[in-house]
Amino acid sequence: MRMLSKACSLVASSLPRCSSSAAPTIRGQPSLLPSVRKEWLDKPLLYGIGTLLVMPLTTLHGVGRMFGAGRFLCNMTSVSSSLQIELVPCLQDNYAYILHDVDTGTVGVVDPSEATPIINALEKRNQNLTYILNTHHHYDHTGGNLELKAKYGAKVIGSAKDRDRIPGIDITLSEGDTWMFAGHQVLVMETPGHTSGHVCYHFPGSGAIFTGDTLFSLSCGKLFEGTPQQMYSSLQKIIALPDETRVYCGHEYTLSNSKFALSIEPGNKDLQEYAANAADLRKRNTPTVPTTIGREKQCNPFLRTSSPEIKNTLSIPDHFDDARVLEVVRRAKDNF
Ligand SMILES: *[C@@H]1O[C@H](CO)[C@@H](O)[C@H](O)[C@H]1NC(C)=O
Ligand SMILES: *[C@@H]1O[C@H](CO)[C@@H](O)[C@H](O)[C@H]1NC(C)=O
Ligand SMILES: [Zn+2]
Repeated sequence: MRMLSKACSLVASSLPRCSSSAAPTIRGQPSLLPSVRKEWLDKPLLYGIGTLLVMPLTTLHGVGRMFGAGRFLCNMTSVSSSLQIELVPCLQDNYAYILHDVDTGTVGVVDPSEATPIINALEKRNQNLTYILNTHHHYDHTGGNLELKAKYGAKVIGSAKDRDRIPGIDITLSEGDTWMFAGHQVLVMETPGHTSGHVCYHFPGSGAIFTGDTLFSLSCGKLFEGTPQQMYSSLQKIIALPDETRVYCGHEYTLSNSKFALSIEPGNKDLQEYAANAADLRKRNTPTVPTTIGREKQCNPFLRTSSPEIKNTLSIPDHFDDARVLEVVRRAKDNF
C-alpha cells in the first residue's frame, strides 16, 4: 500500500501541471493532438514506477506528509504535482519558467530574460526566489539575473564553460553533473551548437527538460558558436530521452517554424496536424510550449535528417551524413 501510494504520487509528479491560467495544462489544452494526449495518459505510470528508486529523500518525505494528512488519493486528476512549472512570457517571444517545489516551497526560475515579469509572477504567488538557472549566456536568457539576485539573494546556476559570461553566476555545472533542486534530481546536459557553453536541464522525476535555444518546437537554435556536427550531436542527446518528456524551450517560435517545416516536408501528416494545431493555439494567444520529444521526432525537420522528402526538396545528395543534412536544412531556414 505504501509502495503503491508512492508510485501513484510519482505518476502525479510526472504529469504536466501549471499553476498560471495562462500556462497550458494537459486538461486545459483541448487542441493537443489525440495521439499525444493518449501517450500522456498511458505512460506516466510506467515512468513513475521506473523512477521510484531514484525518488529523492525530501520528496519521499513530502509524499509521507501528503499521505499522512489524508490529502493523497491515487487520483491523477486531483493530486498535486510536487514540482509545478509556470511559463512566464518575457520580451517579445521568450519564455522564462518558474519552478516551485510544493513540498518545500523552494522556487527557481529558468532563463529570466528580464526581472519585471518574474517579480510580478512571484508577487502574485507570494513567493521568494532561491535559484536562477541559465541555459546559456545570451542576454535574452540572463537579462534578469542581477536584479533578481539583488532582490531575493537567489543563487545563479549555469555552465562551467560560461563562468565568465553569465552575470552573477554562483554554481557552475558540467556534462553529467547532477544538481538537486529541493530534492528533485536535475541532470545537466552540455548541448553546444547555438553557443559553446549551452546546457539543458533535465528533471527526470518530472519528465521535463529545459532546452533553451538548442531545441525549439519544430526547429533548433542558430549556429552562432558551433558546428552542424555539434548541434546534431546535442539534439541526438536530447531526443534519446523518453518520448513523453515535456520540452520547455526558450522561445515561442512554433508557428513561424511550422511554415518552414511544411515548406520542406509538405507530405508529413503529423506535421500538418501539429502546424494547424499551433496556428489555432497562437490565434488564441495560447503558448504552444511545452512540446514533447515524441512530437518533435515526428515533426521537427532538424530531427528528421533521414527524411527522403526533406532530402528531395532540398536536393541533398544521398551520401551526405546527418550533420551535413542538418547544415543544409539550417542554411535553408536561415534564408527562408
Ligand atoms: C478524482 O478527483 C476529482 C477532482 O477532485 C473528483 O471529482 C473525483 O471524484 C476523484 N475520483 C476518484 C476516483 O477519487
Ligand atoms: C520573502 O522574503 C521576505 C524578505 O526577506 C520576507 O519578509 C517574506 O516573508 C518572504 N516570503 C515568503 C513567502 O517566504
Ligand atoms: Zn540564445
